[in-house]
Amino acid sequence: MTTSDTLRYTRFHGAHGSGAIPAVGFGTLIPDPVATKQATKAALEVGFRHFDCAERYRNEAAVGEAIQEAFKAGILQRKDLFVTTKLWNTNHRPERVKPAFDASLRRLQLDYVDCYLIHTPFAFQPGDEQDPRDEHGRVIYDPGVTLVETWRALERLVDDGHCKSIGLSDITLEKLREIVAVARIKPAIVQVESHPFLPEWDLLEFCREQGIVLQAFAALGHGMEPSVLNDPVIAAIAQRVHKTPAQVALAWAVQRGTAFLTTSTKPRRIQESFDISALPEDAMREIRERITTSVRFNTVVETGVPGFIPGTR
Ligand SMILES: NC(=O)c1ccc[n+]([C@@H]2O[C@H](COP(=O)([O-])OP(=O)(O)OC[C@H]3O[C@@H](n4cnc5c(N)ncnc54)[C@H](OP(=O)(O)O)[C@@H]3O)[C@@H](O)[C@H]2O)c1
Repeated sequence: MTTSDTLRYTRFHGAHGSGAIPAVGFGTLIPDPVATKQATKAALEVGFRHFDCAERYRNEAAVGEAIQEAFKAGILQRKDLFVTTKLWNTNHRPERVKPAFDASLRRLQLDYVDCYLIHTPFAFQPGDEQDPRDEHGRVIYDPGVTLVETWRALERLVDDGHCKSIGLSDITLEKLREIVAVARIKPAIVQVESHPFLPEWDLLEFCREQGIVLQAFAALGHGMEPSVLNDPVIAAIAQRVHKTPAQVALAWAVQRGTAFLTTSTKPRRIQESFDISALPEDAMREIRERITTSVRFNTVVETGVPGFIPGTR
């Protein structure tokens, strides 16, 4: 049983090579590199130890600088951190995986990552254009590679030792089952949109059975409408337990057994999102049983096109 003081330090012991995964994670999907660096520094200072990055965010170098500065200042050591980054859709062909991975490591100034995810199960036309489109504006997919072939290339990265664990993102339960069935190295993390309006209970159940950590992105609903934070059930619980609605949504995520990612560029909110405390059991039950709104904010699972990156929809 987790006590209110330790919820924020919860670690899930991943079954597949990842070691202890901090449940509380900071996402770096921040368009501006200067803001990315500042936010990453603020997150490190308040206590976040899990950072989610991606080649597609085009700001790994800014995250890397913030981390290096923290190392140099003696705030923390590499072993204290859990860093994830992701392979973008245009690099699914096996021969492109290692170069893409090495480039991410270089930008992050790290010699290993704790987890490497396939950003989405959709392969796009290989090349330097991250968002390849035809003359009608339609995404150009790559029929020349399967997800299993890409997974095999990620398994080889683990063999090489620069990647502690591997996983998938924006994946459906059906596709996840297919990979789990053939994987030599099982996914450690599955990162999908999840919040009180999209709890993904079936996926969570499968992940639990398989020793996979389900990681919820958009844990606060990405600041979109309908607002998770203005939901009357969440708001009433927040009042009752003297926490903010954001802290309620994030505590719920950890207590039900998911890791989460949240993002802000505002130091006060970064601190707030780290300062979570356990909710009473009745609050957990109310969120599960009384919230009826059902929304997916990000359609990336349908197309591979990331809905939250400015300019991509
Ligand atoms: N795998 C994927 O395809 C995928 C897709 C999307 C995201 N992600 C990952 O998940 C991370 C988190 O996603 P997200 O940005 O959608 O998360 P989120 O935390 O649900 O949404 C962030 C929004 O909530 C606001 N916010 C943050 N903290 C708050 C607080 N304490 N109180 C009130 N509002 C708050 C932020 O506004 P301010 O910035 O103004 O504070 C921002 O508008 C990303 O950075 C990325 O690493 C992955």
